[in-house]
Amino acid sequence: MNRNLALEFVRVTEMAAIASARLMGRGDEKAADQAAVDAMRAMLDSVDCDATVVIGEGERDEAPMLYIGEKVGSGKGPELEIALDPLEGTTVCATGGYNSISVMAIAEKGNFLHAPDTYMQKIAVGREGRGLIDINESAKENLRRLAEAKKCRIADLTAVVLDRPRHKELIFEIREAGARIQLIGDGDVSAAIACCEPNSGVDILFGIGGAPEGVLAAAALRCMGGDFQGILKPRNEEEIIRARKMGIADIKKVFKLDDLARGNVMFVATGVTTGNFLNGVKFKSWGAVTHSIVMRSSSGTVRHIEAEHHFDTKPRY
Ligand code: FBP
Repeated sequence: MNRNLALEFVRVTEMAAIASARLMGRGDEKAADQAAVDAMRAMLDSVDCDATVVIGEGERDEAPMLYIGEKVGSGKGPELEIALDPLEGTTVCATGGYNSISVMAIAEKGNFLHAPDTYMQKIAVGREGRGLIDINESAKENLRRLAEAKKCRIADLTAVVLDRPRHKELIFEIREAGARIQLIGDGDVSAAIACCEPNSGVDILFGIGGAPEGVLAAAALRCMGGDFQGILKPRNEEEIIRARKMGIADIKKVFKLDDLARGNVMFVATGVTTGNFLNGVKFKSWGAVTHSIVMRSSSGTVRHIEAEHHFDTKPRY
């Protein structure tokens, strides 16, 4: 994959972020998501590639745009697969909360897990915890291993967990182990990435979130040298059948980084509202300022890009 493509793709998340940020705090999740989808869809066709959406807004009959299997890009250029979430954290954006992003991961054809729209139990850590985590072990044991690798006490670690009733026991277990906890309302892709950012204040992600978000997080952690494991948690028989149809024979399989995102992977994300590692969109009299992250697994380079968008020369937004 041509490395310059990453900079082409960040233009896409920038525009989706600006479009949805316009609707921040307006209480309309659907409108914010739709604005991001429209902007992302429109920008994608300006990128020279022949890409297929493999993680998107849903199945073809559920989503008018950016559905799984949709062809995007100009049609000229490399054959790629795209995992995307035009607005990860729709509720966050609609309520003006913390940590919503526009996000895409890109790989050569056949390299992303085609994850069904179900839940996934996840564990994510940064570079120091790579190779040490085991999702089948207790939270306490994973914290112990990470503390040893980071040469600190468990009490010095902060675990990030989605604030959901299903995590009651997990939260109890983490507290018993002595670690600090940051409970988040939404956005476990950002939270997984934050585990790799030394200044984010979080060290490890535990808990159950969306499976498609698991693929996006794994793509990011491949680029950043972190680690991730996931196990699908289907809610009913229908979701199990769907997973099987998508090629997943073993529902209880532990998906490791390379099972979720293989080969050369690119990851781009732009902050919609401010979070652990990205600033949200700031509107100015002349336009907007965006903050994005761009990374590639082959080089491991992580670029933070702050861009000024002048609306007199970019009238669409
Ligand atoms: P959306 O972008 O669809 O709003 O997802 C936000 C999110 O918090 C994800 O980050 C997370 O994986 C998932 O929802 C958790 O699902 P649920 O809200 O059903 O617990």
